[in-house]
Amino acid sequence: MTAFMTRAPGLLAPSILSADFARLGDEIKAVEAAGVEWLHVDVMDGNFVPNLTIGPLVVEAIRPLTRLVVDCHLMVSHPEFWIEPFAKAGADCITIHAEATSHLSRHLAQIRELGCKAGVSINPGTSISVIEEVLDQVDLVLVMSVNPGFGGQAFMPSALKKIERLAQMRGSRKYLIEVDGGVKADNIAAVRKAGADVFVAGSAIFAAKDRAAAVKQLRSAMES
Ligand code: DX5
Ligand code: ZN
Repeated sequence: MTAFMTRAPGLLAPSILSADFARLGDEIKAVEAAGVEWLHVDVMDGNFVPNLTIGPLVVEAIRPLTRLVVDCHLMVSHPEFWIEPFAKAGADCITIHAEATSHLSRHLAQIRELGCKAGVSINPGTSISVIEEVLDQVDLVLVMSVNPGFGGQAFMPSALKKIERLAQMRGSRKYLIEVDGGVKADNIAAVRKAGADVFVAGSAIFAAKDRAAAVKQLRSAMES
């Protein structure tokens, strides 16, 4: 879990949404060998977002394969139904959407009570003011830079201002800022400069033939 604890900017989180699900274990090993720190698991219920992906069973299956931080992004309408199952399945971090519940503070507390890092996410159309009251309760703020539901979308530059604001608002708090959606080699340096610590990358890595080369390209672009 050290990868979670460091505030050093530049943690890469490949999203398995864009991986080859017929070879998921190999895909995870490939990106782990390429030196990423996190594994981003996009959970969608077909209700909160117009797509349906995976459940706790898949996290249970991949947990023993990897030492990466398993970062579960719950794009689901009833996060309260899913926090415990994903915690039991082996998630290191569980992120829920502010838009998905009227009991955000209670659910974030539950994530920590279960021993996981707690994350809160906001969609492009949601203002930071919606999560201001819970910033003391989270280890991670996930800024969506696309409207969630699908990989391979274009990065929305409006996310940069949000990242800068969250970095300013952080003060002595320790939350990490993660960005999800459309992160590529040609924009990752700007995203990092704005203040992001963790970078979700789905198609930037898994649409590339050579995963290791794609990871390397992102890493050097981020440090450029
Ligand atoms: C919500 C998902 C996507 C995805 C990122 O839609 O969270 O943002 O993982 O995919 P890319 O990096 O291809 O935009
Ligand atoms: Zn995601």
